[in-house]
Amino acid sequence: MRGTKNSFIGMAVAIVALYGACTDEVEGGDPDGLAVSGQVIDFATGEVLTGTASVSTRGLDPAPVVIVDGAAFAIEPIPANSIFHLLSAAPPTHRATYAAVEVIDGSLEGIRVPALGETYIASLATGFGVSPTAARGILLARAVDDAGAPRAGIPGSAFTVPPGASGPFFLDPQLQAAPGATATTASGWVVFFEIEPGLVGLTASANAQVTMEMAQSPVAPAAATIADVKITDGATVLPTNVSFRQQVRPIFQLRGCESCHSGSGPGRDLGNLTLDGSVSLIYRELVEELALTAGPKRVDLEMPEKSLVLTMPSAEDPPDRHPNVTFTGPSDRDYQLILVWIREGARDN
Ligand code: HEC
Repeated sequence: MRGTKNSFIGMAVAIVALYGACTDEVEGGDPDGLAVSGQVIDFATGEVLTGTASVSTRGLDPAPVVIVDGAAFAIEPIPANSIFHLLSAAPPTHRATYAAVEVIDGSLEGIRVPALGETYIASLATGFGVSPTAARGILLARAVDDAGAPRAGIPGSAFTVPPGASGPFFLDPQLQAAPGATATTASGWVVFFEIEPGLVGLTASANAQVTMEMAQSPVAPAAATIADVKITDGATVLPTNVSFRQQVRPIFQLRGCESCHSGSGPGRDLGNLTLDGSVSLIYRELVEELALTAGPKRVDLEMPEKSLVLTMPSAEDPPDRHPNVTFTGPSDRDYQLILVWIREGARDN
């Protein structure tokens, strides 16, 4: 969920980062601890919850401090360029619900984080004729376009059904069960029941004429997961002939890896990894230097998906020891560029 961006704080952070480079005021892996605040709302009505919510985060290590007051919450510090999940609940009325929050370069204020009401979940189960079991989770994903507006008319056959799940089902424009629908309605919502605990990310099916991008999201027994799935027209096409110099290297700057993996400041090459400086230095760091931990390599030609350069900034189950997650998952364009570059032999090109 994106909220109003506080541009004043964003600007202040940019200035601190700029000066930090020469004054050493910025230390360690937390050069810009950003903040997120908002309220927990009811998914179906949009009303702020009246009870006291519980809110925790998943995907940040160490976990930031969360302060909750009724349905309002405030969270900090959060590293820039992080996608993490909030788990909010208000028993007995509202089910534990995961929702993604993406923080790029500024703090977020006034975000509205949805939790699913128990009576609402019961009405969906009845409407769709399913009996959800306590061992599995429920996913509600909203098909959206590039600008974040709901997309109607995405057929059920376009979605790959997550393993063991039942669905897809669709919500009508008033967010009620539409058992007869075979495609997304004006609300864009698609529902799957009985999702295995772990991580879920919706992808387009093999013959679909669309591409889907959804942040890998946690699923827990008897919990709900809410996500946006970005739809782009045209079948999924992986990049080819990827250049390290032109396409891979800029990712480390654009996605903020440099702020923690920088050779220019003592204690900032976290994980003993430098991702700024000359192209040949970065190449050596990734392809020739050994990783700190025995086991996975920074770039693994045998098992490209296991390369630390892909797994560390991605969501893992169980989570790995990385402060944040930056790539939405295997459908993230930058993840794909790095993956294909490794598959093509991790050339110094
Ligand atoms: C907020 C700081 C921070 C950011 C931003 C960050 N990292 Fe890291 N990274 C770390 C820390 C700390 C470690 C060491 C983790 C550990 O093993 O305890 C690490 C470890 C790694 C490692 C493993 C190094 C090794 O040899 O074990 C890789 C690869 C890596 N990060 C890649 C990235 C990439 C790619 C990005 C950007 C998409 C990124 N990181 C962004 C802090 C960060």
